[in-house]
Amino acid sequence: MNFYVMTLFPDMIVNGLNTSITGRAIENGLISLEAVNIRDYTLDKHNHVDDYPYGGGAGMVMQAQPVYDCYKSIENKIKKQNEQSHINKKPRVIFLTPTGKTFNQQMARDFAAEENLVFLCGHYEGIDQRVLDMIVTDNVSIGDYVLTGGELPAMVMIDAISRHVKGVLNNDISAETESFTDNLLEYPQYTRPEEFMGVKVPEVLLSGHHANIERWRRNQSLIRTYENRPDMFENVELDKKDRKFLMENNIK
Ligand code: ADE
Repeated sequence: MNFYVMTLFPDMIVNGLNTSITGRAIENGLISLEAVNIRDYTLDKHNHVDDYPYGGGAGMVMQAQPVYDCYKSIENKIKKQNEQSHINKKPRVIFLTPTGKTFNQQMARDFAAEENLVFLCGHYEGIDQRVLDMIVTDNVSIGDYVLTGGELPAMVMIDAISRHVKGVLNNDISAETESFTDNLLEYPQYTRPEEFMGVKVPEVLLSGHHANIERWRRNQSLIRTYENRPDMFENVELDKKDRKFLMENNIK
């Protein structure tokens, strides 16, 4: 899977993703990452990429031309690669913006099925709408808060998407029990020692009784989701044992 990031701060992207699990995935050739500097495509003699907003208002707006030319260079590169394999598919282009659809785990799974993904990071007060209308296929926000630019959101998305690319994680994510599967948050985890500062690991986890451990974990997931994400809890499919546990604990 190939990630392309259009940005004014390519070092931020490369330095942020070249470490840890994504860094290893890049090294192993499971994913590739290219951060392309939008400023390299400006035709302005002072290298400017922004200008005042028509209609007035605070801040500066990124101009259409450098963004468009930057995108075209990436599109051409992908086209050339595709020619060899006789594929003719335009890449999805994701614009990071607080006005977009909120990113979630299902979107991460869907994006992971793409061969190429292009991210567009804005700065200042935004980007000229005309170029967005021409190239963007998906407007995505990572949450209800405003950041100074799209770089951190792009990195968040690339990290979450990469986890779904085969081979990136040591374990198989398709058999996952992690958070957001079945509308449930993950249960708490423990490791050695059995006792830390007088606090013991829950007895059931030391029992070796797999059915009881599974039940305990499911119950913990139910409690966590009920307390922290009532919106998700509404959509959990409860079975008889779940209902009994919730009744006993005065939930629902
Ligand atoms: N750019 C600024 N804030 C953002 C957010 N919350 N999500 C995506 N892109 C952004």
